[in-house]
Amino acid sequence: MPKQEYVIAPSILSADFARLGEEVENVISAGADWIHFDVMDNHYVSNLTIGPMVCNALREYGIKAPIDVHLMVEPVDELIKNFAESGATYISFHAEASPDVVHSLELIKDKKCKAALALNPDVPLNSIESHYDRLDMVLLMSVFPGFAGQEFMPSVLDKVKQLRDVLDKKNLQVRIEIDGGIKLDNISQAALSGADTFVSGSAIFGEKDYKNVISRMRNSLK
Ligand code: DX5
Ligand code: ZN
Repeated sequence: MPKQEYVIAPSILSADFARLGEEVENVISAGADWIHFDVMDNHYVSNLTIGPMVCNALREYGIKAPIDVHLMVEPVDELIKNFAESGATYISFHAEASPDVVHSLELIKDKKCKAALALNPDVPLNSIESHYDRLDMVLLMSVFPGFAGQEFMPSVLDKVKQLRDVLDKKNLQVRIEIDGGIKLDNISQAALSGADTFVSGSAIFGEKDYKNVISRMRNSLK
């Protein structure tokens, strides 16, 4: 199985929302591959963030990079449709937030978006194993969702390894995205365990020089 290219996806949760278009433009020209877009509904998680209008506004502003929408909401189906129509590229949701996961995944695919399932640190892989061949990506949370700037949970690396083994055995081209507490000193560990897509919020937007931190991250993946 050819290894998929590494993707660095800054989470805009840690960007300056008052200057969001500019922030996204800057982080992409600093070398980021995708934009990770965290959607929280004050229900599935306690925090409340941004919705499809903001995704659409970024497209209208001229952002061409893939937008990786991470839904931490319940229910999911209406927002899947809205985000697909607002320029999302990837859409991930947490399986327990949908009563019919296959239907929700089909909604994503019907809209020609890429589909992903997200797993909290305490949710086992076997809860989604029947869906692997419907997925473009699995998002493994390395913090409990809700807030940026939390501490990375190294225990998730075992799950990354197990998932990489299973996907390789099945010969499936499914990305493994790791999300939560990723920074310069743990990104290579996550890659060695088998992740290929790295979300990083505070560790990128918390720095003045986005280019410097992103290129150092990329160098540590070589
Ligand atoms: C957490 C979000 C993450 C988070 C990443 O609920 O899904 O994407 O914002 O931020 P850092 O990298 O600061 O943990
Ligand atoms: Zn996220």
